[in-house]
Amino acid sequence: MSRLLLLGAAVLLLASAATAQDCLSATFSGGRTFGRCNNLPSLSASLHWTYHPENGTADVAFRAPSDASGWVAWGINPDRGGSMGGSSVFVASPSQDGSGAVSILMTHLESTSPSLTNNTLKFKVPVGPAAEYSNGAYTIFATVELPGNSTQQFTVWQAGATSNGAISPHPTAPANLASTQRLDFLSGSSTAASNSRLHRRNIHGMLNAIAWGVLIPVGAIIARYLRVFESADPAWFYLHIACQCSGYILGVAGWGLGLKLGSESAGVTYQPHRSIGIAIFCLATLQVFALLLRPDKKNRYRLYWNIYHHSVGYSVIVLGAVNIFKGLDILKPDSGYKTAYIVVLATLGGVALCLEAITWPIAIRKRRRNAADKASNGNGWQQGA
Ligand code: HEM
Ligand SMILES: *[C@@H]1O[C@H](CO)[C@@H](O)[C@H](O)[C@H]1NC(C)=O
Ligand SMILES: *[C@@H]1O[C@H](CO)[C@@H](O)[C@H](O)[C@H]1NC(C)=O
Ligand SMILES: *[C@@H]1O[C@H](CO)[C@@H](O)[C@H](O)[C@H]1NC(C)=O
Repeated sequence: MSRLLLLGAAVLLLASAATAQDCLSATFSGGRTFGRCNNLPSLSASLHWTYHPENGTADVAFRAPSDASGWVAWGINPDRGGSMGGSSVFVASPSQDGSGAVSILMTHLESTSPSLTNNTLKFKVPVGPAAEYSNGAYTIFATVELPGNSTQQFTVWQAGATSNGAISPHPTAPANLASTQRLDFLSGSSTAASNSRLHRRNIHGMLNAIAWGVLIPVGAIIARYLRVFESADPAWFYLHIACQCSGYILGVAGWGLGLKLGSESAGVTYQPHRSIGIAIFCLATLQVFALLLRPDKKNRYRLYWNIYHHSVGYSVIVLGAVNIFKGLDILKPDSGYKTAYIVVLATLGGVALCLEAITWPIAIRKRRRNAADKASNGNGWQQGA
């Protein structure tokens, strides 16, 4: 994981070195010039600025490619780190009057479902901002009094589409969630603002993929195939319980985190992913509590309990796999993760098929023997399961 991050950082560094030229050679209308510039790590945007230490202000130009019908935004989060909620931003979009001009909105984003009210910035703008569109990119010019008179600020930027002239929610692809950084306006150095939201989304994905995608199916495979071997009794049962319990605990933790993430982003709901997740939680919880009601091996209801236990168990596994794919489509991580999960799924399926072939003859022999027992003492069927 950390090696992957390092590799990613190296690629980003190389990429930004390759495009550093663009940032330095950029020119601006009205003869504006800026002392410093940074290529931002996502959405192909760049930031240009001049910091005035004598009064704690910065003149800023933010440039980002976009369709002429899209919107772009840049801003500062004065208190909440690298997140959208709590940021005060400048949004450039096509003017609603259809004149072809660019209009600029100065708005504080209360949360990820913002009201986009004009003139609600949480810092001062001594000079009115301006925005223009040319050569496939928007440029926003603004002068801001850096909050807290600090040169270190959490900056955010974004790009999205409009519909009927109104600003539509931006995509939530990784590039749109990675568009935050901590910037020192004095030295120009920048560090990735830890995006705790993206981080928690990834943890949510990992926990659920390991729990419902690996532990629970492995536990089911153990129960179905190991118990066929007499020497594995009762070890298979404890292994099965260990897998299912750890899977359930990790899975519920991942599920809870998912609900929390969902409640935080009121703007979007991934309905099928959410509903399937809730169904999985209910079925799995039922499964855990039904364990307490498990009739004794000799009890005649044990057969019905087994049928119930198997059908709910297999439903959880199938729904888990479906929801992991739905989650991967939402999270859109590097395609390697999807491939990795498909390989895991294929391996589990392959192992199950092989074990099915190996254990069939044994199971049939056992059943015959049970039938023979039954014929001799009249109640052999309770022996199985
Ligand atoms: C038009 C209304 C907007 C809506 C409904 C909206 C919604 C959202 C949502 C739901 C997320 C979290 C995505 C997820 O994790 O699932 C998000 C992230 C983000 N948004 Fe927006 N957004 C809007 C406008 C803006 C604007 C104007 C900016 C200006 C910079 C912006 C910047 C960001 C950034 C930087 C992130 C990633 C950091 C974070 O997750 O907090 N958004 N947005
Ligand atoms: C910001 O701090 C500098 C000193 O670092 C000071 O000269 C300046 O007056 C301060 N500006 C504001 C607006 O407080
Ligand atoms: C801040 O200082 C700069 C450079 O001296 C000056 O150009 C600018 O007008 C000042 N801004 C304010 C709001 O005083
Ligand atoms: C927001 O208000 C400013 C002035 O206060 C104005 O110049 C700008 O056009 C307004 N933006 C929108 C989108 O109405």
